Amino acid sequence: MKTIYLIGFMGSGKSTVGKMLGEQLGMPFLDTDQMVESEYGPISAIFRDKGEKAFRTYETEMLKRIPDNNHIVSTGGGIVEQEQNIAFMNGNGIIFHLNASMNEIASRLGNDPNRPLWGTNYAERVRLYNRRKELYIAAADVTILTDGKTAQNITEEISSQL
Ligand code: S3P
Repeated sequence: MKTIYLIGFMGSGKSTVGKMLGEQLGMPFLDTDQMVESEYGPISAIFRDKGEKAFRTYETEMLKRIPDNNHIVSTGGGIVEQEQNIAFMNGNGIIFHLNASMNEIASRLGNDPNRPLWGTNYAERVRLYNRRKELYIAAADVTILTDGKTAQNITEEISSQL
């Protein structure tokens, strides 16, 4: 099977669903954030010491390491900020967008200090959410609405579309 990429805003459930999907389909699961952290250290420290641009370079480097078949990949929320990443994922596999509402995201993330771009300003969070949402929808092969659904529901919905 082709590699499956999960995209979506921070807190949309990509890692939880990705792990579950990997177990149920018997495919290895990879998370680009975890790959960056194991090679370059904590994301918050990368943003603080080297800046977002460096993080984006590392993220792309990890994405490109992942084979084009038989993997489930949870990506960072900003993977769609670079056109080359979208083109790579489109050329290598199937992209599923987990679409959670702003209310759902805000209640899940609270004031998570480990997500530098979530910040502390509500208006800025909403602006980022709205801008990104258009990018996810445009990049994805399939968009899945996740509000009110369990990780198991979402996993089944993805499986049924493969
Ligand atoms: C980011 C999302 C994070 C992480 C980094 C930047 C973003 O991943 O890659 O903090 O730009 O939206 P999650 O979507 O897993 O939180």
